[in-house]
Amino acid sequence: MQDILKVADVSKTFKSGSRELNVLSDINFEITEGEIVAIVGPSGSGKTTLLGLCAGLDSPTSGDIHIYDQKISSLDENQKAAVRNEYVGFIFQNFQLISTLTALENVMVPLELQGRGKEARQRSEHLLERVGLGDRMTHYPSQLSGGEQQRVSLARAFSNTPKLLFADEPTGNLDGDTGANVEQLLFDLNKEQGTTLVIVTHDLELAQKAGRIIKLKSGKIVSDLKNQ
Ligand SMILES: Nc1ncnc2c1ncn2[C@@H]1O[C@H](COP(=O)(O)OP(=O)(O)O)[C@@H](O)[C@H]1O
Ligand SMILES: [Mg+2]
Repeated sequence: MQDILKVADVSKTFKSGSRELNVLSDINFEITEGEIVAIVGPSGSGKTTLLGLCAGLDSPTSGDIHIYDQKISSLDENQKAAVRNEYVGFIFQNFQLISTLTALENVMVPLELQGRGKEARQRSEHLLERVGLGDRMTHYPSQLSGGEQQRVSLARAFSNTPKLLFADEPTGNLDGDTGANVEQLLFDLNKEQGTTLVIVTHDLELAQKAGRIIKLKSGKIVSDLKNQ
């Protein structure tokens, strides 16, 4: 199996005024196609920042990130967007749905960006049904509960059949049943399509179900272990 993600000597420093905040340092790991990796660590340890760097949403201060053989960390914004459209899905901690679009239209966006407009509606309807929102397709985000928005965000992340899916606390805001449902969808996607999953979570049970757990503390990897 091939490496789908390679993070080499990555550091990230945020500047605010004259202060420098070193959020990630010396991060190194590789992820193989089809792996399920949980990223855990205390609040503020850099998990969301790391996910954003891996998905090319932000750039590292130093170091390199590759998705397959594309060095995402040195591409320009348009090139990064092209790699994301082709390979990457992202479930954000705060959903980031487009408020002026319905649930269905939100899910259709990645497909339209991929030039798959023709199949967009049917596929998106199918995905929304799959996450249990068949009767909420024409609702706007403000008309949906937090759990429902989370599921729209999940359907959107799946819609371009990503090879690599990043999920930032995907079950964090959900009640037990809905959380279990979302979790099942993620694992099904891995099984059915071989989608590589990188999941930030506080849920230790969920982390235990992943094949591997990377633990961050104060911006450093303190352990990287395969589950038995
Ligand atoms: N854009 C930013 N500018 C300045 N500081 C940031 C920015 N994003 C995150 N941080 C800081 O980086 C640290 C790590 O944040 P984050 O990656 O969100 O942690 P986690 O997801 O593990 O809770 C925090 O101290 C946070 O305040
Ligand atoms: Mg976070």
